[in-house]
Amino acid sequence: MVAHINTVAFAGIDVLPIEAQVAISGGLPTFTIVGLPDKAVGESKERVRSALNAIGLALPPKRITVNLAPADVQKEGSHFDLPIALGLLAAMGVLPAEEMAQYTALGELGLDGSIASVAGVLPAAVAANAADRGLICPGSQGGEAAWAGGADVLAPRSLLELINHFKGVSVLTPPQAAAPGAGTAYLDLKDIKGQESAKRAVEIAAAGGHNLLMIGPPGSGKSMLAARMPGLLPPLSAAESLEVSMIHSVAGQLPEGGIVRQRPFRDPHHSASTPALVGGGLRVKPGEISLAHRGVLFLDELPEFSRQALESLRQPLETGRVVVARANAHISYPARFQLVAAMNP
Ligand SMILES: Nc1ncnc2c1ncn2[C@@H]1O[C@H](COP(=O)(O)OP(=O)(O)O)[C@@H](O)[C@H]1O
Ligand SMILES: [Mg+2]
Repeated sequence: MVAHINTVAFAGIDVLPIEAQVAISGGLPTFTIVGLPDKAVGESKERVRSALNAIGLALPPKRITVNLAPADVQKEGSHFDLPIALGLLAAMGVLPAEEMAQYTALGELGLDGSIASVAGVLPAAVAANAADRGLICPGSQGGEAAWAGGADVLAPRSLLELINHFKGVSVLTPPQAAAPGAGTAYLDLKDIKGQESAKRAVEIAAAGGHNLLMIGPPGSGKSMLAARMPGLLPPLSAAESLEVSMIHSVAGQLPEGGIVRQRPFRDPHHSASTPALVGGGLRVKPGEISLAHRGVLFLDELPEFSRQALESLRQPLETGRVVVARANAHISYPARFQLVAAMNP
């Protein structure tokens, strides 16, 4: 019997639909995962095996094959644990296979069967919603998924809770989107004494969407002024807020159950590597400039940044997007930020 569970992979903040197919067939007992898994996905075998043991289920002593289709897309991350486990449970007849097809699932399993939080729940929820499916996500991220507006979100804290839900033993309550924080706590320009012309320059830059370079001796209030810039910008619209939250979700930086309501302010240290700044790395993540999307990127001690890092800002500043080239794909993230830089004379 072959079970099919819907899940997702990420390309930038775009979601690619992935199907976890699990087949249990006769033969020598083996457990293989195919479909271009990376190391985290390969290790998922051990977590799934142990999580099933923890709830008193042993893997059948048969040939178990998991295929993550389409097979030519690189699968990265630990969020495939849950769909693989659900596929196994459906193939073993523990969960109803037809009902599972109505859901998109993602989550990381602990050895004790708990479901741990993963990056990208918000974009996955939006995609599941668009495909008219429900979402199964980690318990701590139910609030995040609820923001996508889908009616059917299941946020179990463990595999056992999910099995009990489908067996009708104890039904999961749908998670609520966390209430937006009362009032925004931006810093205020009034804290700055004097510096009238600098304040005016900051106001003009904020009003016109200009980038800004401040030159002044240490302790003259440059960092203070920069940190007050997001508060001068207009509030994030609902669409912008969702867009910014998607980036933070993919980066795994969204606060629990929340959504980003404030204009971001990012101030990477000048020793930050180029991938940390513009995105990339072994497992591609959005960099500081994408986390500053729709907000302010503050580069203190501008001349101390490496030449390569500064050069890499050129294209995003012009186009509002950053393209990270990889061996087999180009991934792009939004990066429309206002640059504020400071340096000593
Ligand atoms: N114009 C100012 N008004 C109020 N406090 C100031 C002012 N300038 C400097 N300060 C104080 O000095 C500290 C250092 O300022 P900072 O913004 O870090 O300076 P810079 O970045 O130019 O070195 C601030 O935390 C603040 O307490
Ligand atoms: Mg400073």
